[in-house]
Amino acid sequence: MCGIIGYAGHRPAVPVVVEGLCRLEYRGYDSAGVAFVRQGGLRVMRAKGKLAALEEKLAQEPLATATCAMGHTRWATHGVPAERNAHPHLSNDGSLALVHNGIIENYQEVKADLASKGYVFHSETDTEVLVNLIAERRKSEPDLLHAFAAALREAHGAYAVCLMHSAEPETIYAARMSAPLIFGLGTGENFVASDIPAFLPYTRRVIFLEDGELVRATPAQYEILRLADLAPVEHEAQTIQWDMQAAQKGGHRHFMLKEIFEQPRVISDGLTGRINAARDAALLPELDALPVPRRLHIVACGTSYHSGLWGRHLLEHWAGIPVQVEIASEFRYRDSLLLEKEEMALVISQSGETADTLAALRIAREHGVPVLGLCNVVGSSIAREASAVIYTQAGPEISVASTKAMCSQMLTLALMALYWGCRRNSLPATRRRELIGLLESLPALLDDYLPAMHDRARELSRKYAQARNFFYLGRGHCYPLALEGALKLKELSYIHAEGYAAGEMKHGPIALIDPAFPTFALALDDALFPKVKSNIVEVQARQGKVIALTNPGLDLAVDDPWIIPALPAPLAAFAALPALQLFSYEMADYLGKDVDQPRNLAKSVTVE
Ligand code: M6R
Repeated sequence: MCGIIGYAGHRPAVPVVVEGLCRLEYRGYDSAGVAFVRQGGLRVMRAKGKLAALEEKLAQEPLATATCAMGHTRWATHGVPAERNAHPHLSNDGSLALVHNGIIENYQEVKADLASKGYVFHSETDTEVLVNLIAERRKSEPDLLHAFAAALREAHGAYAVCLMHSAEPETIYAARMSAPLIFGLGTGENFVASDIPAFLPYTRRVIFLEDGELVRATPAQYEILRLADLAPVEHEAQTIQWDMQAAQKGGHRHFMLKEIFEQPRVISDGLTGRINAARDAALLPELDALPVPRRLHIVACGTSYHSGLWGRHLLEHWAGIPVQVEIASEFRYRDSLLLEKEEMALVISQSGETADTLAALRIAREHGVPVLGLCNVVGSSIAREASAVIYTQAGPEISVASTKAMCSQMLTLALMALYWGCRRNSLPATRRRELIGLLESLPALLDDYLPAMHDRARELSRKYAQARNFFYLGRGHCYPLALEGALKLKELSYIHAEGYAAGEMKHGPIALIDPAFPTFALALDDALFPKVKSNIVEVQARQGKVIALTNPGLDLAVDDPWIIPALPAPLAAFAALPALQLFSYEMADYLGKDVDQPRNLAKSVTVE
């Protein structure tokens, strides 16, 4: 949930690190800090709040000579957001500084042991415990590499860490276990970071470090070693295909807006190379070696979970595969998982690092079923641990609120349903051709409609900005969209919103409706339209105001109809999704909220 970066090179290191932190801020932003060596001693500077607070402090500091530094941007786990809990943390003797993303589960025991030896702690963090454990191990093991490894072997939990020593001003040490860490190879400079954009202006050559690996790097050299026995590990460097432009705002006010408007491109990229020449079959070579599952268990969190709920409709209707969809944090503690031979688990995760989803993946693997990963981030933990992975190819998603990732997940799920529908002969070629034609028409259709959709979202957000509550209602394939619309509104604008199956309203929630409690209904042109219309009428009968996302020509009387282009269900979701996203975006922006970095959140949730 935090972002770390380390740099050893030839440039002024602190600005490189701060710039990197800026691109990692989506991972956490309640405090930040840097460390570098000056005049033979470690200098640590930290500040509560966003990176700007740290930059202000750094502006007062002479930094020019340091060419090696590390930094951290924090999302609080142990200890409240405060300067004393911000990283880097120093060992008691001041010789070591550590930044850390993750949780050391046994830190209380280690802390008690260190305290009995006279160590004192100035923060509530597990990281301060770990850096002192390294210092303690160094007493019997003067080689820092060995002491570092010895301490990490005693630490239980998840970590990506970077370490500096006052006597080695040009060296960074780093290691990972169940938290992302990427090594960047430059010319006369090397990097480690939680995510590639942190060092992308300087190099596109990367090594995805594996769990249980440790790295020692200077400007000119690096070595990667196995934590267990310090045996050297060989990795081939990969070249990242995307560039800084993809990781920047591209003229938009916020990353979220840029990412919403990228969705037509995400769809065309996602289709590229995945449709056969006859345009009647999806090509997913990642699935060729796997049997068609008798039952599919989709496991995910947040927006990715909503994609899974939506995908269920297609996988069941087109491919005839029964699907169960579960929230990962619940799945991992179920007693009876019912994973049987010939079943398959599908874990969906934009980041590929979500702790609950990763745990679910491991449980499914223990049950002996193949686990398919649907990930956006190449080389992420889920991508590496799954039996097979399909990349959603959405490009970097920086805004904490997930938008284009959902679109790319939905597209990939549609392709999977087509692919398995073909293998199972459950979907005739004519129907597949028709559906592929529709998918291919989406980018142009969305490109045309997005600007008008944005205008309507702006207009409606102004009208409803005073609302303190919202219902989002949908049925069938629109129910997951109602959940997603409500999630977007609450996480961005902090307005309470509940996504509900429209047919369930009469079983209790309708009691909440009054003139100040508006409803956002999804009333698209599909088989369930008459039912949704009745549910809307029931809300109106209780003086509830209604915005309805609907299609041309439908007979529906609501306060605020929002007409979007008609597409056959369930593909209509591709047109409804950006409308929901834009409404939440505009609402949050109008209310002056921090759109790209909403309070209390982090992009990548690597804690349980
Ligand atoms: O990286 P993942 O797809 O595994 O992330 C899952 C959720 O944390 C994520 O979708 C979250 O709900 C977003 N903030 C939604 O906008």
